[in-house]
Amino acid sequence: MNKAAHWYRNKLVVFAAVLPIALVGAIAAIPPLRWRAEVLILQLTGKIPAIETRELLRFMIPGPEQQPVARLIETRNPFAVLRNLHVAREDIQAGAKIYQAECAVCHGPDGSGGPGGPSLTGRTFKNGESDWAIYRTIRLGVPGTAMQKHPLAPVHLWQLIAFIHAIDIQRGIPISSAETAPIVEVPSAEIAATDEPAEDWLTYAGSYRSTRHSLLREISTHNVAQLALRWQYQSDVTAGKIEASPIVRHGILFTTVPQPLGRVMALDAATGKLIWSQQYAAPANAAGGEFGAPVNRGVAILDDKIYMGTSDAHLIAMSAATGKQIWNVGTSNDPTRYYISAAPLAYGDLVVIGVGTKGGGVAYIVAYDAKTGGERWRFMAIPGPGERGHETWSGDSWKEGGAPTWLTGSYDAKSDTLIWGIGNPKPDYNPSARAGDNLYSDSVVALQGTTGKLKWYFQFTPADERDWDSNQTPVLVDRPTPEGTEKQLLWANRNGFFYILDRDSGKFQRATPFVQQTWTDGIDSNGRPMQRADLSRHKEGYVVFPGNEGGTNWWTPSLDFSLNLFFVPVVEQGMVFYSSGDDWPTPANRTFYTAVRALDARTGIQVWEYKHSPRAEKNETGGVLTTAGGLLFGSDLGVFFALDSRTGKYLWSVETGSTINAPPITYSANGDQFVVITSGRNTMAFALPKSVDGVH
Ligand code: HEC
Repeated sequence: MNKAAHWYRNKLVVFAAVLPIALVGAIAAIPPLRWRAEVLILQLTGKIPAIETRELLRFMIPGPEQQPVARLIETRNPFAVLRNLHVAREDIQAGAKIYQAECAVCHGPDGSGGPGGPSLTGRTFKNGESDWAIYRTIRLGVPGTAMQKHPLAPVHLWQLIAFIHAIDIQRGIPISSAETAPIVEVPSAEIAATDEPAEDWLTYAGSYRSTRHSLLREISTHNVAQLALRWQYQSDVTAGKIEASPIVRHGILFTTVPQPLGRVMALDAATGKLIWSQQYAAPANAAGGEFGAPVNRGVAILDDKIYMGTSDAHLIAMSAATGKQIWNVGTSNDPTRYYISAAPLAYGDLVVIGVGTKGGGVAYIVAYDAKTGGERWRFMAIPGPGERGHETWSGDSWKEGGAPTWLTGSYDAKSDTLIWGIGNPKPDYNPSARAGDNLYSDSVVALQGTTGKLKWYFQFTPADERDWDSNQTPVLVDRPTPEGTEKQLLWANRNGFFYILDRDSGKFQRATPFVQQTWTDGIDSNGRPMQRADLSRHKEGYVVFPGNEGGTNWWTPSLDFSLNLFFVPVVEQGMVFYSSGDDWPTPANRTFYTAVRALDARTGIQVWEYKHSPRAEKNETGGVLTTAGGLLFGSDLGVFFALDSRTGKYLWSVETGSTINAPPITYSANGDQFVVITSGRNTMAFALPKSVDGVH
């Protein structure tokens, strides 16, 4: 070895010996390096549990979103140290998206749990509640359960946790935020100008006139046979029956499931994806519904708000964009006796609602300032002492007379007239307990829309003894005549007669039975039924057609003015009533049948009928909808069907698998026409297959 080489070798040895010492010294001297080294040593020597080295390294990369990893030196506990730093609104939204794609199938669309997985809405997680514990539960799964590994990118896992923590069962899921929330704006003038719905569906029955007839014609008699399920949204709420008729505005569908623990939801009308959901937990002693089964028939929309009634008779205004509650008023002085099942009706600057009563009480129709929730007027469905009509109740019977107002009325915007049906007097089957005509039970009332002042009333069934309430949808029609416009009100009543009234005066024009009826010898020229005197009222019972379910009920009717046809779902059933008045009527025959009937809208005379097979149970049927495509959509038990509205010819049907209690609606979204029906807990949207040409 030469000298020079020797010198170099010595230097290298010294350098090799000094380098690590210098490095350790440098690391020890620079704090950011020092704690990292310490953490790493603890990890490599197995002192920090429940975290992988590469996960740990990831958290030690310097950056703006720095975990307080140094604290691991003292605590050696990642559960106590690692926190979710991805908690911005965008993270929650991103988490919501991943959640809907990966997790909703088991944990429910809104995190409240489902058959496949537990609720994530509580604040207790049995597999650990810290951010890091939840992170690991999601990433590694829970061995031996359906909760599989989800090896997602770390940022996605944190976003999921942000979303899970943002779920709040009382406030609903903040999937929408102010920044991305859709803009919803429905001016009352637009609803007033919409005689018949097309792209949107803006009131309970489609328009203020309540014809439930849509101008859409993409789905028609020519292609309806190809109708197929496009999306469905399954609610996890099991209480009560879903009877909601959705509202649709610019591709957003608003619908409700009944309380207690019911909610209102905004769905993407083209895909069924949840946009937001709001829970309303009614108190345990809420009236709920007359027979304990809670029902909610949907919302009203006006300007930027939607309105919903509750099972404890509250009325709530919410932001249509986010579901955020804006005001909440109790409409009754006794939420254990009054409830709201109807969809409200909003017009001008008002929102109007009626109530059901549990037992007796006195029902009402009440209007609130749509912006503030301040009460504007109230109409009592039974006249109080000193008021005209009070004398139609014997003694104090009016105080518990009921006369509920539980189905949405209609509105004549031109004359500012609100038209609303009133239910039957209590007790249902015992008229001797309340001798008299019992106004305004079993009537329609016309009120001035802005003041609630009574303009006129018409009573269909005075002194009712068979539960024939007048909670049906009033259908408004304007007929051009040589003298001007004839304004009529069409009404298929539970008592079995189809009525035509003058809408300005309430004057009776004509009535025609649309089902078999045996209780009258007809209707006199004033519209009063000539009740048969020869009905033998012995306590062994006497048969009457229709039965207590009525010839029809609250099931939605429809009017196609171009065909001059009024469509009504009917029940053909007689019942044995008893003279004691305390006994419930019983079916007169072993079987009965339901049908859809098309009536000449000028005379009430039947034009066609579509009959369902006779059956022995469930004397209810579904509402109808008609379209300019020449179609009538209806339902019976679990079958959703389409008929040719001109002829009643059967064209298409699907067995939905559950009983249908809700009426159908139609709208268009993303350029396609949809027909929506809720069956059991499933809201199902039907459309033509993408490839089908809508030309006809
Ligand atoms: C195939 C069904 C299924 C899917 C998909 C699923 N989970 Fe789970 N999950 C479960 C089950 C079952 C449990 C309960 C495990 C147990 O018994 O501890 C669970 C438990 C959990 C827990 C722990 C709850 C606790 O009390 O400790 C969390 C958190 C969780 N899941 C989140 C998610 C997230 C986030 C997703 C989507 C990335 C998801 N799950 C996907 C079925 C599922």
